[in-house]
Amino acid sequence: MSAEIRCSTATLATWSGEVLAVGLFSEDAGAAGRSALSARFGAAIGEQLERRRFKGKPGECLSLDLLGQTPGQLIVVGLGAPADFGPDQLRSATATASKAAAASGCSQLGLAMPIEGLAAEAAAAAMAEAVRLSLYADQRFKSEAEPRPLPSQVDLLSLGDAAQAAVAASGAICSGVELARQLVAAPPNVVTPAALADTAAAIARDHGLELKVLERSDCEALGMGSYLAVAQGSDLPPKFIHLTYRPAGPVQRRLVLIGKGLTFDSGGYNLKTAGSQIEMMKYDMGGSAAVLGAMRAIGELKPEGVEVHMVVAACENMISGGAIHPGAIVTASNGKTIEINNTDAEGRLTLADALVYACKLEPDAMVDLATLTGACVIALGEEIAGLWSPSDALAAGLINAGAQGGEPLWRMPLRPSYRDGLKSGLADMKNTGPRPGGSITAALFLQDFVDPAVPWAHLDIAGTVWSDKGRGLDPAGATGFGVRTLVNWVRAGGPA
Ligand code: BES
Ligand code: MN
Ligand code: ZN
Repeated sequence: MSAEIRCSTATLATWSGEVLAVGLFSEDAGAAGRSALSARFGAAIGEQLERRRFKGKPGECLSLDLLGQTPGQLIVVGLGAPADFGPDQLRSATATASKAAAASGCSQLGLAMPIEGLAAEAAAAAMAEAVRLSLYADQRFKSEAEPRPLPSQVDLLSLGDAAQAAVAASGAICSGVELARQLVAAPPNVVTPAALADTAAAIARDHGLELKVLERSDCEALGMGSYLAVAQGSDLPPKFIHLTYRPAGPVQRRLVLIGKGLTFDSGGYNLKTAGSQIEMMKYDMGGSAAVLGAMRAIGELKPEGVEVHMVVAACENMISGGAIHPGAIVTASNGKTIEINNTDAEGRLTLADALVYACKLEPDAMVDLATLTGACVIALGEEIAGLWSPSDALAAGLINAGAQGGEPLWRMPLRPSYRDGLKSGLADMKNTGPRPGGSITAALFLQDFVDPAVPWAHLDIAGTVWSDKGRGLDPAGATGFGVRTLVNWVRAGGPA
């Protein structure tokens, strides 16, 4: 159960509850916060902070007992310099405080954070997200759950009722992020292509969305030879999933969200070898998890004026006597022929047919998310996703939506000359080019399957889908990356 999060007009001076968490800026700049603390709890608090060398740096966290008082415990977290303060700093300080409070077993938490320079709604949403997402834990696969006391009530201090709607919306978004995390973390023997289709069916049923699932024969009829080539080595049937949200009123924009849905990527006959983290390739459906999570949130938030389609060509990349040969030539649903010179570059083969299908929906914009290349992880690391788009407006809108949700995106080049790396002597193209610039040629490959009239963006989330150690709001494991970007982007109405 997650905590009830409420906006409260109570302040640092007046709130009474079990544990009070207070954010303080670094050094002298925090003087105002420190004197507010001393005013309520006595000058000894200032001396304690001094003695324990609290500097107010980001990530710093101290817990002080207030024996015989209410609140009985004070948690102080550092905010860094006021000049650097923004939603990201607010989110991480709130996450630090929430984790410290949960560790102390408290059930009632008051959060007193400065929100100067931020709109009350944005501050409330950032804090609510931070509380819920940082306290998330996944015990589905333990035979016995460890008892984990969580605060049952969290008050966001000095925030009026006006911000409560933002907290409610962030609840829907967090449910989407949690769904994405659960799908990504679940093992490949649980989250299969059929399980992804079942998840879409549950979202459709719970929120009144439309669902169409194309079976292998339906995909054959549509000529999806690229996607089906990847699926053919598996004993599990592919599922091509199309979920649709239609708003109640008139439609101003039609958007498509496409997710790579490889529930396991062995590499195929170009088998992944030691060091290539084959055992982690359950997370190769992170793109589909993000779009399913976003659809769950959209189904609950029911934004006006936007029709949103989700397309996932789900399958496994496996080995068997029926698996695709390295060197095979296949034909995608737009008629292009592809020489598969590497069966481990399977994501782009599935996305090719998904993109062709999406273009036929004649959207105003479409975005694909994919754990597409190791090269993107090398380029941008594990905190930043790569973004490719021929449209400046679409790129800017997505970067903005990502920044708003604490999901950094970095625009990468779609350099046309690099397309030469995909030339084939026999077919229209190969599926892989040279290693240098591998995430760029992957994006250029996808572009071949996009109608140039449709504004399109590609996000490579190979680095951001998983965090071994955990960071910021993300506990170790699946991050649910992409959900917040997509929902913010859709709520803003899509492309500018
Ligand atoms: N799913 C992988 C990409 C990946 C790698 C995601 C590491 C997360 C972490 C993708 O299907 C793949 O295997 N890509 C190859 C492409 C290569 C064969 C051109 C890669 O990146 O090595
Ligand atoms: Mn692969
Ligand atoms: Zn893959």
